[in-house]
Amino acid sequence: MTGGAGFIGSSFVRFLEASTEHEVVVLDALTYAGDPSTLEGLPADRVRLVVGDIADDELVDALVAEADAVVHFAAESHNDNSLADPTPFVRTNLVGTFTLLEAARRHRTRFHHISTDEVYGDLALEDPAKFTPETPYNPSSPYSATKAGSDLLVRAWVRSFGLEATISNCSNNYGPRQHVEKLIPRQITNVLDGVRPRLYGTGENVRDWIHADDHSAAVLRILESGRIGETYLIGADGERSNLEVVQSILRLMGWEPDAFDHVRDRPGHDLRYAIDASKLREELGWTPAYADFEAGLAATIDWYRANEAWWRPQKAEAEAKYARAGH
Ligand code: NAD
Ligand code: TYD
Repeated sequence: MTGGAGFIGSSFVRFLEASTEHEVVVLDALTYAGDPSTLEGLPADRVRLVVGDIADDELVDALVAEADAVVHFAAESHNDNSLADPTPFVRTNLVGTFTLLEAARRHRTRFHHISTDEVYGDLALEDPAKFTPETPYNPSSPYSATKAGSDLLVRAWVRSFGLEATISNCSNNYGPRQHVEKLIPRQITNVLDGVRPRLYGTGENVRDWIHADDHSAAVLRILESGRIGETYLIGADGERSNLEVVQSILRLMGWEPDAFDHVRDRPGHDLRYAIDASKLREELGWTPAYADFEAGLAATIDWYRANEAWWRPQKAEAEAKYARAGH
């Protein structure tokens, strides 16, 4: 698999280790978002980390030749970074995915591609509509455009070369070990530092939250039983405005509900994401284990409280980037 030293990839490795007998080779470049400590404590005979780039043809070919399946999580994953500099997004998300696909084609390897609901663009705030696998692609940012491009490459490799691939598009994840640049860990660690949370624009933008472990369980289900060539949407009916999320964090951490600041909005900021996961639920029998967002959020806050040594080294640089962007 790729990207296993990142937030969701490491959750997937832990999930595989706990619930299957599979041996996992993680290919990860350990960018600013990758941290080998996310894999600490896992048995060396089950999980091996190879530090390298998914766009490195030779390395990728050698690893894919040995693998029964490729599960591809590695990406540049943060919208705000893609607005500051899209270059690594094109290289990793497009060229990297292409490199993996070519190796999987040569070795006839089963491929699962991890993607995002952001490829569909955004929905209106007061609209009951949700994304379905039939929603047309309409990405807004360099991040979502490169993820959309990578999905389309996978689809073309299925149709043109008969690659045995599936794709999943998941909504916003939360949980332990998420980089502090993202909304929820940024605000939790701000409060731990005595700093008021920061809401982009009005705070009315809506995201559909799912726990990373529920995402992992869905990916394993698709890998084992998904139909080749299909796209599955993953989401847990967790729609909340950013304002609601920040106020939940404030309440759970014992702060006043208005102890936050509005800051400069994100250019091109998507209004609302919402997932219709009925295909995954009905076809593959998946249901989320973390049905209660507030309980999952409280456990996530506890994790950041207890693991300052993990997130502290990321914090100053992430905040410096935000200061430069006016966020
Ligand atoms: P992350 O930024 O936490 O981790 C990305 C990992 O990929 C890091 O370990 C990094 O070192 C590695 N990586 C980056 N470039 C690489 C390269 N060129 N070669 C090898 N490794 C490289 O990301 P995440 O939030 O865990 O997201 C994982 C995947 O899930 C991504 O494909 C993302 O698009 C997708 N996704 C994320 C979310 C979310 O809410 N975070 C939601 C839906 C889908
Ligand atoms: P983010 O975690 O960056 O995920 P994505 O852009 O993939 O949805 O942001 C989630 C939402 O929170 C998004 O609408 C932007 C907003 N946001 C803030 O309001 N304040 C912040 O400090 C950050 C990082 C994000």
